[in-house]
Amino acid sequence: MRTALLDLLRCPFCGGRLEVVENEALVRVEDRIESGVLGCDCCAFPIVAGIPVLVADDPTRDAMHRMEAGQHEDALFMLLGLDADRGASFRALVAPDRKATYREALALLSLDAEADCFLYRFSDPTYLPTAALLRAIGQNRWTVSGPVLDLCGGSGHLTRVLAGLQPSGGIVDADVCFWKLWLAKRFTVPACDPVCCDANSPLPFARETFSMALLADAFPYIWHKRLLAEEMMRLVGPDGLVVLPHLHSARGENVSAGMTLTPVRYRELFSPLQPRLFSDARLFRQLLDRRVVDLTEDASPDQIGTEPSLTLVATPRADLFRTYDAGDTDAVEGELTVNPLYRVARQGRASVLTLTFPTPEYEEEFGACKEYLPSTLTVDADLTGPIEPALLGADCAELRRRRVILDAPKDYS
Ligand SMILES: C[S@@+](CC[C@H](N)C(=O)[O-])C[C@H]1O[C@@H](n2cnc3c(N)ncnc32)[C@H](O)[C@@H]1O
Repeated sequence: MRTALLDLLRCPFCGGRLEVVENEALVRVEDRIESGVLGCDCCAFPIVAGIPVLVADDPTRDAMHRMEAGQHEDALFMLLGLDADRGASFRALVAPDRKATYREALALLSLDAEADCFLYRFSDPTYLPTAALLRAIGQNRWTVSGPVLDLCGGSGHLTRVLAGLQPSGGIVDADVCFWKLWLAKRFTVPACDPVCCDANSPLPFARETFSMALLADAFPYIWHKRLLAEEMMRLVGPDGLVVLPHLHSARGENVSAGMTLTPVRYRELFSPLQPRLFSDARLFRQLLDRRVVDLTEDASPDQIGTEPSLTLVATPRADLFRTYDAGDTDAVEGELTVNPLYRVARQGRASVLTLTFPTPEYEEEFGACKEYLPSTLTVDADLTGPIEPALLGADCAELRRRRVILDAPKDYS
């Protein structure tokens, strides 16, 4: 944890500043705190593997006591949810002489189908319009003039998009699952500040801290929606920006829907920030067909009707609501890699790629990706090794546009 993050953090319960406790658990490395305890008038919270855990529950307290007893690895394994066997596998995976990948660590840390959603997130049909929306919004420097927050940010796929906008003051990935934040910091977006917290409680940040607060594909999973809406608005202030892409609607059908509301209720919750609603189906089509993000045509709840999902953008700053070019860049932030949804077979000098879904359930939920991911294709290059743009020549831009080739974090898959 960067020590500068202390300026942003507040206790979720008393709202007080958090101070570093000078005890046996404290390990400082330059301007970071690797492990330690944060305290306020009412609570104590651990920092484990550089991640502040601002949650008051028994596992967190146990982890803190382990750390104070010098058992740092036990504390980490406890918060990662690792038993002795998986702990041993984890230890081997992250050994200094072993080059671990996100994919391998995810397979160890995630015990359910969420692993598929995360591994293939960079090309799924809800990620693409959301990433394009954030890049569009970020063209307005005021949206990134302070720190930005990715709430319920998981293992950091969209946090990485926010990082690409180069906000002043850093990017916080906040999630209730410690293991997801560990993956985000280690692999997906090492530049982020991970904060473990529960979005059902008051958020552990100072008032008017962030220039933008994002909450993608998670609001319906939160029971205390009124509290969370008020909290997000508190964090960005009266001229700030709150973005909630891919809100499942109670009027439509969704896989893993969560506790949905109707579009009109979502809008009411954020009314002080003058929210506008957008049809997700329309944002998707505009991106694929016209390469634009059009924020000029918001939709009424009636116009959204029974569509499964919608996007809410709330800010009083009317200059945000215009049409943006969503053309792709040639720059490479991480490393070019074959989309892990493809099986790759060599055929002479060429590579034959076959789209292969991990499960029928994944295909059912994210099958719209077939609109841009071809079922098979042959690329005149060896794609089993490192991929430089020159290797793909004139095809590089098109392969990237169709998400056959991804600009993924280093050591992703
Ligand atoms: C479908 S994932 C979306 C992840 C990320 N926002 C994205 O769009 O890629 C939902 C995320 O919400 C997080 N989440 C669920 N309930 C939460 C809570 N009460 N507090 C904080 N995060 C929560 C989950 O851990 C998960 O990472």
